[in-house]
Amino acid sequence: MANSNPEIKYTQIFINNEFVNAVSGKTFPTINPSAGKKIVDVAEGDKADVDLAVKAAKAAFDRKAPWRQMDATARAKLIYKLIGLMERDLHYLANLESLDNGKPFNNAVYDVYGSIAALRYSAEWADKITGDTVPSDGPHLTYTRKEPVGVVGQIIPWNYPMLMLAWKWGPALATGCTVVMKPAEQTPLTALYLCSLVKEAGFPAGVVNVVPGYGPTAGHAISVHPDVRKVAFTGSVEIGKIIMAEAAGTLKKVSLELGGKSPLVICDDADVEEAAKIAYAGVFENMGQCCIAATRTFVQEGIYDAFVKKATELAKTRKVGCPFAQDTQHGPQVDETQFKKILGYIEKGKKEGAKLETGGVQEGKEGYFIQPTVFSNVTDEMTIAKEEIFGPVQSIIKFKTLDEVIERANATNFGLAAGIVTKSLNNALVFSNAVEAGSVWVNTYLAVAVQAPFGGYKQSGIGREMGKEGIELYLETKTVSIRLPTKV
Ligand code: NAI
Ligand code: MG
Repeated sequence: MANSNPEIKYTQIFINNEFVNAVSGKTFPTINPSAGKKIVDVAEGDKADVDLAVKAAKAAFDRKAPWRQMDATARAKLIYKLIGLMERDLHYLANLESLDNGKPFNNAVYDVYGSIAALRYSAEWADKITGDTVPSDGPHLTYTRKEPVGVVGQIIPWNYPMLMLAWKWGPALATGCTVVMKPAEQTPLTALYLCSLVKEAGFPAGVVNVVPGYGPTAGHAISVHPDVRKVAFTGSVEIGKIIMAEAAGTLKKVSLELGGKSPLVICDDADVEEAAKIAYAGVFENMGQCCIAATRTFVQEGIYDAFVKKATELAKTRKVGCPFAQDTQHGPQVDETQFKKILGYIEKGKKEGAKLETGGVQEGKEGYFIQPTVFSNVTDEMTIAKEEIFGPVQSIIKFKTLDEVIERANATNFGLAAGIVTKSLNNALVFSNAVEAGSVWVNTYLAVAVQAPFGGYKQSGIGREMGKEGIELYLETKTVSIRLPTKV
């Protein structure tokens, strides 16, 4: 059940299966975005703590350590145990996530299920990762082995704290890597509670380590650490570039899942009501704090006016309020920084000539709530059509032909996701082949699945998470050749 006051049990750094204070003794507050007030102080990790965490992860990865001696099936069983504990604590986890992040409780429950799905999908891979036998030239038996990369650093954002954790822990643990993770400073609480479940599930000490703290300190220490072999990051393009540059010093493998400015194209032949619903979900989900948010809604001229009317109506129905109320669909933005940034974008939209149809202001007086906002008459040059807003702002843009809209959809440095709503198979195929995006959805949106690879073209990222490719991100390939007898 929803409970706005869950007991906070863990606030320390998790290293070697123990909760410890920061070496510096420092702490930082995590905020409840519904009230703009501190929930609790959390240990603030920095280089010294990351060093200890990496040391523990490295020891756990030693070839003679229990984790490396385990069968793949045994690794999978540990992940299943963790899943069982998450199911047991489902509502507690969801309440903690709602409190720390602001998302409605019902959405947080959905996120716990999504996290479990990601862990289960990964666990099922554990004993199905195989190499090849290779018909190499010469008298050799040649085969490949798929081996875990080693200690992996994982830096995650605040929009889907548990889900992003599960997307990163799952493949790392299934393949036999060990983990040093930094959760976002805005939302450290569910990661720390999940650490207690890792211990309870019986994972060997040092396999999972979590260091809460800030990006330029704890995050930076992970990116440059010589014993971290791979860094997996989800967050902004700006920080993705910094991490990639910093990882170059030790030639770490890097996977990046960054932002987007995803186009959703609504063709004249679409049912206006259905299309408006798809677009509404695509942009307002999670208060617009979604890397795949459909923030450029391109609508063909024949249905443009009808679509704007319907989209505005829908946005007005969205129930904004306390994340713990049963009928709430829309909570606050995650923090004051994001709140102000989004209101700044809305002001720019108005100034640059877009027409504000609804919303555009704070909801209530407390916390970081923003009314679902719809702009029509948006043009490609406007700031709100170019930059990632990461808030509940829909920009509706007119187009004439499919050919033209494909060019416009691709005229961005981003390439995470795209969608089209049409009854024409031709339109759907032409668009989905031509659009430069890692995921394309036809007559639907946000159809992310743990079984399918997910990631970005261009500056939206490097590598694909989940699906088979997501498992491969955590593997090295070793080629072994054994000389065969040449005489029989
Ligand atoms: P961010 O990219 O700064 O934060 C993401 C993670 O990176 C956090 O854990 C943060 O502590 C860490 N980090 C920050 N600086 C770092 C550094 N120098 N080295 C290593 N780690 C570092 O994102 P932020 O500031 O929270 O949000 C800014 C914008 O980024 C948002 O408005 C949105 O546009 C975008 N964003 C995109 C996300 C996505 O899912 N693709 C998620 C979160 C934000
Ligand atoms: Mg918080």
